[in-house]
Amino acid sequence: LGERNFILAGNWKMNKTNTEASAFVNKLVGQIGNENKFEIILGVPYTALDRVADITRSSKIKVAAENMYFEDSGAFTGEISAKMLKDINTEYVILGHSERRNIFKETDEEINKKVKKALSNELKVILCVGELLEEREDGLTLNVVERQIKKGLKGVTKEDMSNVVIAYEPVWAIGTGKVATPKQAQDTHESIRRLISEIYDQDVANSTSILYGGSVKPENIFGLFSKPDIDGGLVGGASLKEDFIELANIMR
Ligand code: G3P
Repeated sequence: LGERNFILAGNWKMNKTNTEASAFVNKLVGQIGNENKFEIILGVPYTALDRVADITRSSKIKVAAENMYFEDSGAFTGEISAKMLKDINTEYVILGHSERRNIFKETDEEINKKVKKALSNELKVILCVGELLEEREDGLTLNVVERQIKKGLKGVTKEDMSNVVIAYEPVWAIGTGKVATPKQAQDTHESIRRLISEIYDQDVANSTSILYGGSVKPENIFGLFSKPDIDGGLVGGASLKEDFIELANIMR
């Protein structure tokens, strides 16, 4: 107990056709060594999941969906269920990304339903939290993150927490090139870990991986990952390019 995984996760967002995805992932598989100690996860659009899961089957790379719906099936035009994801060998699902929260107006309650539905279908969850710029400027970072975690994990058991990863992504650092300083990130990660120990216990807190996301690149990864409570990264823009291979090969 108390051991946690180090994780390098990519999030392609709404990028790459299936054809582009295959070409890129074939290259990744050839260039990311299987001996890498980091768990490597790629979040890809629904249309590329099946193909990417197939290409990565005998590699280190695991596949994540970027969203899902919380109902099992039925009249929900345009939505995708946990069971559909599981059936095509998806291992993880990213939930509560700031783009889902801010552009698509997902609430903490909806995200919580998704978290529970994913876990009950044996999908692992990457739960994203993070404050907006004005919330940070108003000194509300910890209040926001605490609310998102408490509500997001409501009803999630201690046992289920072994299938939950937290990603702290300050919204002002996403896609802006403006990375949080290692100290800013560490301070929030430390508070998140303390919160998890309060909700669950110290063992759960010590074994939960907490990733940082927001403008992670090969140039800034060392400073971040040298901090004790930063267990890896959730990488957007840089996961679309060769940079992701570089990140994976630096972090071993
Ligand atoms: O989920 C990853 C993310 O939102 C960070 O994006 O482009 O700033 O690395 P980016």
